[in-house]
Amino acid sequence: MCGIVGAIAQRNVAKILLEGLSRLEYRGYDSSGVAINNETGVRAHRAVGKVQALKDKFEAEPLDGKIGIAHTRWATHGKPTEANAHPHFSGPDLALVHNGIIENHDVLRRELKAKGYEFKSETDTEVIVHLVHEALKSEPNFVQAVKNALESLHGAFAIAVTLNDENERLVVARQGSPLVVGVGIEENFVASDQLALLHVTDQFIFLEEGDVAELTRDGVTVWDKDDIIQERPISVFNHNVDATDKGEFRHYMLKEIYEQPTVVAACLEGRLSHERVLTSCFGANSEFLKQVENVHIVACGTSYHAGMVAKYWIEDMANIPCTVEVASEYRYRKVAVPKNTLFLTLSQSGETADTLAALRMAKELNYLTTLAICNVPSSTLVRESGLTLLTKAGAEIGVASTKAFTTQLTALLITSIAIAAEKGELSDAKQAELVQALRSLPAYLDAAIKQDSTIQVVAEQFANKHHALFLGRGPMFPIALEGALKLKEISYIHAEAYPAGELKHGPLALVDEDMPIITMVPHNVMLDKLKSNLQEVAARGGELFVFADKDTDLHSEEGVTFTEVPKVDAILEPIVHTIPLQLLSYHVAVVKGTDVDQPRNLAKSVTVE
Ligand code: F6R
Repeated sequence: MCGIVGAIAQRNVAKILLEGLSRLEYRGYDSSGVAINNETGVRAHRAVGKVQALKDKFEAEPLDGKIGIAHTRWATHGKPTEANAHPHFSGPDLALVHNGIIENHDVLRRELKAKGYEFKSETDTEVIVHLVHEALKSEPNFVQAVKNALESLHGAFAIAVTLNDENERLVVARQGSPLVVGVGIEENFVASDQLALLHVTDQFIFLEEGDVAELTRDGVTVWDKDDIIQERPISVFNHNVDATDKGEFRHYMLKEIYEQPTVVAACLEGRLSHERVLTSCFGANSEFLKQVENVHIVACGTSYHAGMVAKYWIEDMANIPCTVEVASEYRYRKVAVPKNTLFLTLSQSGETADTLAALRMAKELNYLTTLAICNVPSSTLVRESGLTLLTKAGAEIGVASTKAFTTQLTALLITSIAIAAEKGELSDAKQAELVQALRSLPAYLDAAIKQDSTIQVVAEQFANKHHALFLGRGPMFPIALEGALKLKEISYIHAEAYPAGELKHGPLALVDEDMPIITMVPHNVMLDKLKSNLQEVAARGGELFVFADKDTDLHSEEGVTFTEVPKVDAILEPIVHTIPLQLLSYHVAVVKGTDVDQPRNLAKSVTVE
């Protein structure tokens, strides 16, 4: 989604802003722009496409100055054109960048036009900058004028505004879209994401909902939603700074696939004793584990698929009902909440608009408590949830989620075991066995990654395919959904997933020699049933790609490509079987020559509805 960077410093900020935009590229965007404020006024460059196109403009015509704002735009209102790219101006001296959506922009646009404002773009953003301009006519204080203008807006936004006057400062505000202030020495910064500022600072102030802040070179003043000045705490960034470095890897996605044994080990660290899950990992208030009688899991996309796997674990081990729902549906319906229900959200970013809205709605309902399983410790989701279990995957840059998913599954398995054990549904011996299995997970993930070069060869067979069908049974069905999502996201091959038992009820009609069928075969009671499903496909000339351990007795033959996955404890199968699917999608995308880390139309952090 859109990204904001802003800076006020003693030095030229152009390079800082451009580097910040490059660091935001992973979020997904289609145009970018920078406005620099200096004694000659506010001047801007904008470009469609990659940030490099903007850098080329700076190369050809440098803009220098010590105050500036910058933006990567992911089109919502109006096509990705230069005219629609931010910053937007009202007059020559006032420029603004914006993330989010202004829902009442139509009405505001009409009102502003009636007052004589001319619109140069189709964006909802342009109304904000004209509103600030209008407010400045009656309110000479820039900060107050911005606050006055914001009162007319409905929707979600984060903004940064610069005005060319004698008081050098940036004014920023947050309502519904994340914004973080970077604190430097005699310089201060703002961005929608810490990663955008790691080249200039590691000290951050996270703005809260409704905050407005003024940034000068010497300090940061924050007003809360009630217009009271607040001292917000400064946090020091402790992710590995190298997260923004691809290292030896060609793409972030591949690097992040390879990181999984390490980050899963980090996710397990401090959460297991020799024989038990340590309930202290949920914080001091772990009493809920005993009380919980129902679980409602709410999430989006890949995180939703992780939730679907957890339903199998929770119902199986803890013997309590568990529902899983996509946040965009949950938030718009009346939900029945049985007594003692845990509300559990899953999110890599912790900033997904629908998941946050669902959490806020749930907090008004009669839930036992809210638990967020999340990767970003400083995120809104973490700050607004009752309890948190961090996934500790480190910064994930590739738009297609990989290590965030397997660490979510790991955290969910820890949670499921803890609930089952605290409710007395798990014997000590069984818990010790599961903990032992969890401890071996990083090594199995490593073994699964070792199949990379084999899977690379398999991927070549997908180069000319337009469709693919993924099949799974039991907890492998959500893994099939996740495999299909990965393939369509980065290789643009249309892919669908079905529970294998549903094949005869419709999708079998699609099966012919042009339709590859990908299936993960678990080594459990469903093995024989799945083998019959595979026969049904083979009999219709379908091309099968089977991922299974060698004890399943499956092998490559005419029409069947067999790839070995390490044999693991049944509970770990969904996690370990994810790896070959990630690698398959990755290599298919490379073969097809797509933009693996920034697939078209997609954004890393979906901060608008
Ligand atoms: C897919 C993907 C998305 C996200 C979804 C939710 O690879 O990354 O489907 O999983 O947008 O995002 P988070 O987990 O940040 O809430």
